[in-house]
Amino acid sequence: MSGDLSYYAPCTLGLEAVLRGELEALGARDCRELRGGVRFTGDAELGPRACLWLRSAIRVQLELASRRVRDERELHGFVYEQAWERFLDVGGTLAVDASLKSSFLTHSRFAAQLVKDGIVDRFRDRTGRRPDVDTQNPDLPVFLRLHRDEATLYVDLAGRSLHKRGYRQAQHKSPLNEAIAAGLLLATGWDRRSALCDPMCGSGTFLIEAAWLAGDVAPGLGRSFAFERWQDLDRAAWARAFDDAEARAARGLGELPGLCGADRQPGAVALAERAVAQAGLRGRIRIERADVASWRPPVPPALCVVNPPYGARIGERGGDLETSWRDLGTFLHRQVGAVAWVLSGDPELTRHLRLRASRRLPVYNGPIDCRFVRYEIGPASVSEE
Ligand SMILES: C[S@@+](CC[C@H](N)C(=O)[O-])C[C@H]1O[C@@H](n2cnc3c(N)ncnc32)[C@H](O)[C@@H]1O
Repeated sequence: MSGDLSYYAPCTLGLEAVLRGELEALGARDCRELRGGVRFTGDAELGPRACLWLRSAIRVQLELASRRVRDERELHGFVYEQAWERFLDVGGTLAVDASLKSSFLTHSRFAAQLVKDGIVDRFRDRTGRRPDVDTQNPDLPVFLRLHRDEATLYVDLAGRSLHKRGYRQAQHKSPLNEAIAAGLLLATGWDRRSALCDPMCGSGTFLIEAAWLAGDVAPGLGRSFAFERWQDLDRAAWARAFDDAEARAARGLGELPGLCGADRQPGAVALAERAVAQAGLRGRIRIERADVASWRPPVPPALCVVNPPYGARIGERGGDLETSWRDLGTFLHRQVGAVAWVLSGDPELTRHLRLRASRRLPVYNGPIDCRFVRYEIGPASVSEE
């Protein structure tokens, strides 16, 4: 791989501008925000570095080629002529996904099968053998986009989604996706030096992502990537990027701002503590079992970030939820001088905070259309409701 390459990084809807900022900071060129992702260009070293460093992206895809194809035979030929052996050894594994729109093919499974056949046929013709399919952890994840008969082939550098950082083993009932948590933190414009709290921290995602952000820890340091098994990876460049990230984390973690959280569920606190330890942050984040109504953060926060329950996933909407939001409002009213950002999936519940919003960022949390709402906490911030 060399020269100017085209990449695409998908993200959660609403975080495109944040992801673009991250990419520009990494040196990506020609960044263009699309709905749910950012296109960009860069050299061959940028893709692996993007996997290592991007906090708000879900994956990083390298665009191989585009062509107009009108039938199955043309699609097969287009796939067949790509140099797949650049990436994959015949003893390796692959998986194919496809997305179709207004095209001669209407079933994505079938389209993926055709792409797989094209790749396999090329290997068989050249070596007499064929790579296997592994849908769980393939060496080469391939993606076909066929829109209005324009076929584009991508290879996915990350493999497993980038939100899988490696610190969360057991699942909390309703955890926030790590890439969304990190993207939201970036959207707050936090200075990474002042104290931060999450008074309903669940499994601690905001707090861990905040520590890694403040500590200059690359979110991909604790996991592996598909590209590490590719034939044409520049291993020396990748080793340099990885060593540099390790050195930056060692320096950055030396000093962290005050980071603390609470949750009323003992199970959530236990999960959060386990994840904190797994993330290499034991003793760096304080997590307490407390109800938000009475919790006093051990360090006065300049920034509160919180993802309260909003019913779509934890239990049902009702009195308990409304009480939790009212109690969160009471907690926030006590943090005079702080800024709070609250992720809400339900405007009816948001009103129970009794605070006046200064900004609302539309963002999706999975399928839920949410708002990430900013409040400046001061005597004048209390709304009439
Ligand atoms: C949507 S989850 C937060 C998930 C979290 N962001 C994560 O990444 O795991 C909401 C959390 O609020 C907690 N919670 C609800 N009401 C509370 C209250 N009154 N006081 C403290 N915690 C509360 C729940 O126990 C739950 O863990």
